[in-house]
Amino acid sequence: MKVRIFLESDRRAVIELWEKCGLTRPWNDPDRDIDRKLQFQPQLFLVGTVDARVMASAMAGYDGHRGSVFYLAVHPDFQGLGYGRALMAHIETVLAGLGCPKLNIVVRSSNVDVVGFYNGLAYTQDDVVSLGKRLVTDA
Ligand SMILES: CC(C)(COP(=O)(O)OP(=O)(O)OC[C@H]1O[C@@H](n2cnc3c(N)ncnc32)[C@H](O)[C@@H]1OP(=O)(O)O)[C@@H](O)C(=O)NCCC(=O)NCCS
Repeated sequence: MKVRIFLESDRRAVIELWEKCGLTRPWNDPDRDIDRKLQFQPQLFLVGTVDARVMASAMAGYDGHRGSVFYLAVHPDFQGLGYGRALMAHIETVLAGLGCPKLNIVVRSSNVDVVGFYNGLAYTQDDVVSLGKRLVTDA
């Protein structure tokens, strides 16, 4: 897998990847999510390719205090081969290079099985309650 910054020509493939990986939700318009990311730290929006095919993605960020990763996805045809681990390692290197002291991951309660993946990468559950407030309605 090669990891590179998202290009506009990847848009369709990335949205299809998110759909295939069950990451889209009615309240998140993927096109608008991409548009917003391209306005803010676009260099942290990454894709993974194998033979030029986009098969992985990660939308990372650093707000000056914490790092984040959303839309981490590896196409089902390529899962279980170490690509998710490799993409996370790449992101950790990039964020650490920006001075980011800690990376936070949000996992939907409907996707709690994936916690095992992060545990294997040395992520541990923080003693926090995650709260959110929608500021822009996409639907
Ligand atoms: C989660 C995901 C990115 C992992 O990618 P992947 O390329 O399949 O993962 P890897 O092959 O790098 O796995 C690394 C390790 O994690 C383990 N692992 C992978 N998925 C796991 C899961 N769901 N639960 C527990 N362990 C898991 C692997 O067995 C492997 O362990 P090993 O190193 O001891 O062999 C991928 O399954 C995916 O895209 N899932 C759907 C989208 C999703 O849920 N994204 C996360 C949103 S928070």
